Amino acid sequence: MNQTIRVYELPGNEQLATGLVQALNASQGVIRAREFPDGETYVRGETDCEDMDAVLVANLFQPNAKILPLLFFARALRELGARRVLLVSPYLPYMRQDIQFQSGEVITSEIFARLLSDTVDALVTVDPHLHRYSSLDEIYTIPSRVQHAAPSIAAWIREHVKQPVIVGPDSESEQWVSKVAEMAGAPFLVLEKVRSGDRDVEIKVPPLDSWRSHTPVLVDDIISTAHTMIETIGHLTGAGYAAPVCIGVHVVFSGNAYTELQQAGAARIVTCNTISHPSNEIDLVPALGQAVLALLNEAEKLK
Ligand code: R5P
Repeated sequence: MNQTIRVYELPGNEQLATGLVQALNASQGVIRAREFPDGETYVRGETDCEDMDAVLVANLFQPNAKILPLLFFARALRELGARRVLLVSPYLPYMRQDIQFQSGEVITSEIFARLLSDTVDALVTVDPHLHRYSSLDEIYTIPSRVQHAAPSIAAWIREHVKQPVIVGPDSESEQWVSKVAEMAGAPFLVLEKVRSGDRDVEIKVPPLDSWRSHTPVLVDDIISTAHTMIETIGHLTGAGYAAPVCIGVHVVFSGNAYTELQQAGAARIVTCNTISHPSNEIDLVPALGQAVLALLNEAEKLK
């Protein structure tokens, strides 16, 4: 058993935390929390971590309600003696507002990054939405490690899809779609997306003649409303392609998005387990464990 690492979790992260305890061969610590009648939160650490590295598992999708508990839990870990507090959030929120599209808009990615950087000592996540930022270091001041889902997605495709063509819905997807395609030994296509509202997505399609005998596999980093995928499915099937397999790394699935995606003609929907969902088939927890160990070993970079 690793005597220097103890894993803690925010409520709702029990499955992921148990997986990481196994992957890290670490012990599990307890922090209790409950709500006062007025809606405020009571927090008390129960298992100390004197001079240990505390790994706090807190998946921050739908982040707003999780931020105050996160601040309180990180503080509890300091009180319990943690040498360093490392946050594991497989989904890193507030990465998409990375520019002012219109005057007056707040670049929430910067504010959120500052808040997390002031709260924990290091961060491990999976494929954050890096579009206009080239790395997390542009906005995060703490050391971070990004685990990529591409190798696990490619392995799944190799095992389950005959003659695939990997399809990315927009230019920023090229970074992961090209890697998945290379590792799966498949060709790839990248389409062009114009978004005019949260649920208004138009996909522009290049000539699609080349790969009609292949099975299209749509790969995106986030599926939220699923409109990006739904629109892409329409173009592909309209151009005579088979019903596509849809793969998402982070499936936020707002509202009825999952059902709508099924009804839009996805042959199969397969997702990584960065956010728990019945469609999770690609397990990234062992890889996350490796990322945590690698980051902790880079001790000199940590505060
Ligand atoms: C943004 O560009 C991302 O890569 C995804 O394409 C986007 O977040 C998907 O969102 P939705 O499912 O709401 O279309």
